[in-house]
Amino acid sequence: MTEEFILTRTEGKVGIAQINRPKALNALNETVMSQLMSALEMFDDDDGVGCMVVTGNERAFAAGADIKAMAEATPVSMSQGGMIDQWDRLKKIGKPVIAAVSGFALGGGCELAMACDMIVASESAKFGQPEINLGIIPGAGGTQRMTLAVGKAMAMEIVLNGRFLSADEALSVGLINRVVPTETYLDEAVKFAAEIAERAPVAIRAAKEAVNAVFEMSLAQGLNYERKLFYMLFSTADQKEGMDAFINKRKATWQGK
Ligand code: CAA
Repeated sequence: MTEEFILTRTEGKVGIAQINRPKALNALNETVMSQLMSALEMFDDDDGVGCMVVTGNERAFAAGADIKAMAEATPVSMSQGGMIDQWDRLKKIGKPVIAAVSGFALGGGCELAMACDMIVASESAKFGQPEINLGIIPGAGGTQRMTLAVGKAMAMEIVLNGRFLSADEALSVGLINRVVPTETYLDEAVKFAAEIAERAPVAIRAAKEAVNAVFEMSLAQGLNYERKLFYMLFSTADQKEGMDAFINKRKATWQGK
């Protein structure tokens, strides 16, 4: 039987997926990634869930791709193995995903956090791309997303010199959203996710899509894309409800339609 590496639960409208491979500091092999993506797809299809949280444990969010599983790899085995391909499934998740990070978020672990939409970090979180120490470079977006998030100068230090960022440093360079006490980091992330889960569901998906479009498109294309999504939202019951609620000074009740 395949080991269960991902624990799932819901709290209200928040779906929580916890990476559970503590002996290997939550190292991400193909099975872990496949199970994680299946859990997120399950939450994405669940009308009762409005936002998701991906987390690890206090010591490690994830210490990277599984080095032991990659040690004897070849370019062909890597490209056909499916480990990196699993990451493409994350791009298709429509609802927002928040990474709740404590301890090590290194290599693929840092890339996973950055591939989520927002990051809540405990005071003890450490972010880094130490692949250079293994004779490789990041392969799941680390050179690209890190540079977009923190700028070229800092990204070069992180990727070329294996520099780790503390939670406070990560906050100050714009990599993460907030730093919270280690004892409550998951509760804080779930609370944050619960706020987002209360918002108009179709507009939330459109908002995520529009912000992420900045990484794929030119400014002209992105502005055009945003405008199309904006117009589309005027076809939803939630737009009528939201504006009527504002005008009549009452709280809106979203239908997700
Ligand atoms: N892959 C496989 N196993 C890992 C691992 C990883 N990425 N990180 C940690 N482990 C394992 C260790 O081998 C060890 O297992 P054993 O007890 O069986 O020996 C266990 O987790 C505990 O680790 P340590 O004893 O090393 O713990 P530590 O507290 O002394 O050090 C650490 C913690 C600094 C995070 C250290 O484990 C470390 O440097 N890990 C590797 C980090 C790394 O290089 N990540 C990048 C991986 S490559 C990548 O991610 C490519 C990509 O872009 C997709």
